[in-house]
Amino acid sequence: MEPLMQENRVFNPPADFIKGATISGMEAYNKLCSEAEADYDGFWGRLARENIFWKKPFTKVLDESKAPFYKWFEDGTTNASYNCLDRQIENGLGNKTALIFEADDGSVTNVSYQELLGRVNQFANALRKMGIKSGDRVIIYMAMTIEGIVAMHACARIGAIHSVVFGGFSAQALRDRIVDVGAVAVITADGQFRGGKSLPLKAICDEALSTGECPNVKHVIVNKRTGSEVTMTPGRDVWMQEIAANESTVCEPEWVSAEHPLFILYTSGSTGKPKGVQHSTGGYLLWAILTMKWTFDIKPNDVFWCTADIGWVTGHSYITYGPLAVGATEIVFEGVPTYPNAGRFWDMIQKHKATIFYTAPTAIRSLIKASSNDQAIHPKSYDLSSLRLLGSVGEPINPEAWMWYYENVGGSRCPIADTFWQTETGGHMISPLPGATPMVPGSCTLPLPGIMAAIVDEAGVDVANGNGGILVVKRPWPSMIRTIWGDPDRFIKSYFPEELGGTLYLAGDGAIRHKDTGYFTITGRIDDVLNVSGHRMGTMEIESCLVANPLVAEAAVVGRPDELTGEAICVFVVLKGGRPTGEEAKKVATELRNWVGKEIGPIAKPKDVRFGDNLPKTRSGKIMRRLLRVIAKGEEITQDTSTLENPAILEQLKESV
Ligand code: PRX
Repeated sequence: MEPLMQENRVFNPPADFIKGATISGMEAYNKLCSEAEADYDGFWGRLARENIFWKKPFTKVLDESKAPFYKWFEDGTTNASYNCLDRQIENGLGNKTALIFEADDGSVTNVSYQELLGRVNQFANALRKMGIKSGDRVIIYMAMTIEGIVAMHACARIGAIHSVVFGGFSAQALRDRIVDVGAVAVITADGQFRGGKSLPLKAICDEALSTGECPNVKHVIVNKRTGSEVTMTPGRDVWMQEIAANESTVCEPEWVSAEHPLFILYTSGSTGKPKGVQHSTGGYLLWAILTMKWTFDIKPNDVFWCTADIGWVTGHSYITYGPLAVGATEIVFEGVPTYPNAGRFWDMIQKHKATIFYTAPTAIRSLIKASSNDQAIHPKSYDLSSLRLLGSVGEPINPEAWMWYYENVGGSRCPIADTFWQTETGGHMISPLPGATPMVPGSCTLPLPGIMAAIVDEAGVDVANGNGGILVVKRPWPSMIRTIWGDPDRFIKSYFPEELGGTLYLAGDGAIRHKDTGYFTITGRIDDVLNVSGHRMGTMEIESCLVANPLVAEAAVVGRPDELTGEAICVFVVLKGGRPTGEEAKKVATELRNWVGKEIGPIAKPKDVRFGDNLPKTRSGKIMRRLLRVIAKGEEITQDTSTLENPAILEQLKESV
């Protein structure tokens, strides 16, 4: 945190960017902020009327009567897919390219708005014919394909609530989500291409459905992507292409209340199983649109590229919905940044003349490393002059990575939007506006207009600038989480805790504001959530997974800083059969890593494994995680260990396998 707060390099947006920007200059930013402060309902009401097609206009902006279950634009009706597709065609963009799809093998398919609408409608009609209706939950377990986007829009079209599960999650993780959400159907693919390999999806889906715990799933719809062999269960499984082929390209959208859930997306919390974050239709879409316009300054000629996966919220807001809702052309990429080599991103920017590029610090850091001794794949070896704006998301970006990105990718010409937000917030919360905000590397700068972000102490009282504290949002905003699916109490406890007074939204991050500028710098999670390569992971989730292994008696999981992945997962394990050493320890460590990979997914595999005869505990039996964090970092323990029941354990745990 220290070096960041001392960061005093300031980068002003270029004058010509400011001139053409949607929010042009700090006066324009301040004006919008003042408008929100003076008349909150009026501000959001105006924007919602200007930016969304309402089948039936709303009469009330914000209903706080059942806070914190806020309702926005509730009596208005609309449809997300209609706003993204039909509306563009009505505006004369039917022939405009909506998607530039680049497959793993480099082949490119362009899809116009008209074609995309046709495909969405055919599939939506097929889903309706199967009996899937408004309010039903549909799991989407697919990779980055045109069909993945079609599937999400087809659900939205008929009012079915989609829940996308990242294609890297295991059968067990998929099953948990199918059960929790009560899905009636699963849309998947035979497999996926990634980095030149063909990986299964349908087989994992079959495994998820094999235990009889998902009796509600009546249909499995399979996109033919890799052509690999799959087992089709008669009466349950159908091919996506076959059921859509003969359907009409016209499909009347389901007009839903603005509060109708558009999707549920699972994310890790500090305790228990992943939470199903429920988002609305109207408020969510409004913020996806506004942040495309404000943060990304989107213009008709832009070629927008967000490198996220539709399995994460970034893919929802800035691939599936946001770019299409503003009529943009966007790149959709199936593959990985390192295949066929680590110049893939730069090659694609050059090839498609991308103008806006949005990626994660972890990708930037790994590409810095890869290109440090290979000039051929260094961004300087490509023509990246089409770029005019860069973005960063998912984790704090360290100033060194920021500078590299700014100079080598952006040619010291493109502003960087370091966007702080979360699955729960639906869209950007704190970010520089590219045509207004002077940038400081490593700081996400200032809240977007209408977002009342603040820093408070543990009693919920504002802290003065220059002091660290807890990041909160003081007023509800349209795209905020509506509830945790099936667990409203957990929603209140997680996000509106009584300790803070019950009205502040608790983000779960620590932050500090610069004493002069008021700029925000995020200092990291304050709960037991880790951020590994921009992926959120609950330590408890990994602990429960480890103790479910027959060899394990007890386990504790903490994070430690990692140059490449931001944080790395470190596990401390007590085996039932005693502490292993030497080759045996290595063997068990590998076994446990694979176990976690299989139970949760490869992204949750621990980096360090340490074995002890016990874990450091207080006399009352509480695991002292702060000591484990010190050990994980490889630092000497200087803290008081007098409350520790078994200090000798610490020596054992220093040894990482
Ligand atoms: O800790 C913050 C970090 O990622 C968390 C949210 O993770 P998730 O819900 O998976 O959403 C990621 C994509 C929006 C936050 O609580 N985070 C996200 N963006 C930033 C960030 N930390 C610092 N700077 C950011 N720009």
